[in-house]
Amino acid sequence: MNNQDLAASVNSRRTFAIISHPDAGKTTITEQLLLFGGVLRKAGTVKAKKSGSFAKSDWMEIEKKRGISVTSSVMQFDYADKRINILDTPGHEDFSEDTYRTLMAVDSAVMVIDSAKGIEPQTKKLFQVCKMRGIPIFTFINKLDRDGKDPLELIAELEDVLGIGAFPMNWPIGMGKGLKGLYDIFNQRIELYRKEDQGESYLELDDNGELREDNPLKEESIYQQVLEEVELLKDAGNQMNEEKIAAGKLTPVFFGSALTNFGVKTFLDAYLKFAPAPAAHRDEAGEKISPVSNDFSGFVFKIQANMNPNHRDRIAFVRICAGEFERGMDVTLARDSKKIRLSNSTQFMADSRETLETAVAGDIIGLYDTGNFQIGDTIFAGKHKIQYEKLPQFTPEIFVRVTAKNVMKQKSFHKGIAQLVQEGAVQLYQSYSTNDYILGAVGQLQFEVFQFRMLNEYHSEVVMTPMGRKIARWIDPEQLDEKMSSSRNILVKDRQGLPLFLFENEFSERWFADKYPNVKLSAKL
Ligand code: G4P
Repeated sequence: MNNQDLAASVNSRRTFAIISHPDAGKTTITEQLLLFGGVLRKAGTVKAKKSGSFAKSDWMEIEKKRGISVTSSVMQFDYADKRINILDTPGHEDFSEDTYRTLMAVDSAVMVIDSAKGIEPQTKKLFQVCKMRGIPIFTFINKLDRDGKDPLELIAELEDVLGIGAFPMNWPIGMGKGLKGLYDIFNQRIELYRKEDQGESYLELDDNGELREDNPLKEESIYQQVLEEVELLKDAGNQMNEEKIAAGKLTPVFFGSALTNFGVKTFLDAYLKFAPAPAAHRDEAGEKISPVSNDFSGFVFKIQANMNPNHRDRIAFVRICAGEFERGMDVTLARDSKKIRLSNSTQFMADSRETLETAVAGDIIGLYDTGNFQIGDTIFAGKHKIQYEKLPQFTPEIFVRVTAKNVMKQKSFHKGIAQLVQEGAVQLYQSYSTNDYILGAVGQLQFEVFQFRMLNEYHSEVVMTPMGRKIARWIDPEQLDEKMSSSRNILVKDRQGLPLFLFENEFSERWFADKYPNVKLSAKL
C-alpha cells in the first residue's frame, strides 16, 4: 500500500469500546450496531452465544451462571465507508484490569447508561480511565421505553458526578409508555417512536425548529414541554464544541432504547461524524508514533487462552498503532528482540473468526500465540525499535495459596498456572522460602474463574487457601535481608523473581517502616 492509500485506510478506522455498569444494555446495543453493519442477521445472536455455540467453551458457563460478561471480545464491521472495531469490555468490577487495558487500545468510548439508574459505580470507574486517557466519550442513555429519571436530571448527573460537560444531541419526547419520539437537536428533525416500524420515522423541522402546523404531535403537552426544555438547553446548556469533544471534555449525549432499536442508528451516524480516526500512540519515551507510518508496530493488550478448548489455542490481541499488517510478515518483539513471523493471524466478526490477510493502524488483530507474547509487549517491523508505553497494572489486594489437589497431576497444574497467569488475570507469586504458589488478584471472582478454568481446561483440581487482604510492597533486592520477613509481612517473589512483602495491614507496614527506616518500599514495579 502506498502512503496515500494507507492514510485513507487508517482514516476510515473507528475503534472504540463500550463501557457501562452491568445490565445497562451494552450487549443489546452492540447487537444493534452489528445488525447495522450487516454482520448479524437477527437480533439475539450475541446474547444467544452465552448459551449457544460459545458455551462449548466451558468456562463461559461461569458467565452464564452469574449472568455477567467476564471476557472482552473484538467485533469488526463496515458501515458508511468506515471500518468499525468494537472492543467489548467485561462489566464486572473484578475484571476492571482487563477493561483498563482494553481501554488503552481504543480511540474513543461509548458510555451506556440506564435511564432509570443514572450513573452507576462501574460506569464512574471506567469513565475515569477514559478521562485519564483524554479520549472522546459519547453517551447513550438507554431504556427510554421504560420510565426513567427526568432527562434534565440525567444531564445534571453527568456533569456533577462525572465532571464532564454534556451536550444533548437529542431529547426524549416522553418516556416509558408515553414515549413519542426524540427531538433530534443535531439533525433538526423529530424521530418518531414506533414499535412496528411502519410509516414515516422522521419529521423534518422548519427553520424555527418547529413541526408543521398540521402535525398532531404539536398539540401534545409533552411536545410543548420538550420545546421549552430544548430552549432552556440552548440558552443555559453547553455549546457544541468539536475540540472539547475530541479532548474528552464534552460528551455528546444521545437518548434511545437499544432493545426496540430506537435512536441507535441516529446515534451511530452522529457518532461516526465525531469519533476520531486512530490517534498516534506514545512510546516509552513519550514520543508520538504516527499511525500512518511505513513500518508496522502495535502492542499486545490482552491474551486469552483456550478461546476454543477443542483447539487449545491462545490468542494475543494486538492493537495496530502504526503501518500495515500483512500475514506472514516478520516482526521483532521489543522485549527480547526475538524475531517472529506472523503467519497465523485472525480477525473477529460477530459470530466467526476469519484468517486475516491485511490490517492497518486502528485495527485489532488476533495472533495465535505459542508462548511468545506477554501483555504489554510491543511488536514492530523495520529497523527502528519501538516500545509503546506501559499498560496500567493493578497491584493485587487479595491473595490465596494454591496447590494441586492431586499431587500426581503436577504437570497439568504447572502448565495451567503458567498459561493462565500469562493472560494477566491473576498474578503469580512464590514464597521465598518454600516456593509455594500464591496468587494475587483485585477481586474474588478472578480466583473463581481461575479455579474453574484450571479444572475445565487443564483437568487440574486446585485447592485455594485464602490468605485474605494484603498490601503488596516491592523491596529493592539490594536492601533485602530475608530475616526482615515475618508472619505479618510474608516475603515472596514475583514472576520476574523480584522480591516483595505481603503486609498484613497498614499497621504492619508502618511497623516495618519504623524498624527499617532506610528501606524503600514501592507499591508498583
Ligand atoms: P449489559 O450487556 O450491559 O449487561 O446489558 P444487556 O444488553 O444484557 O441488557 C440487560 C437487560 O436490559 C436485558 O434484559 C436487556 O434485554 C435489557 N435492555 C437492554 N436495552 C433495553 C432497552 O432499551 N429497553 C428495555 N426495556 N430493556 C433493555 P434481561 O431481562 O436481563 O435479559 P434478557 O432476558 O432480555 O436476555
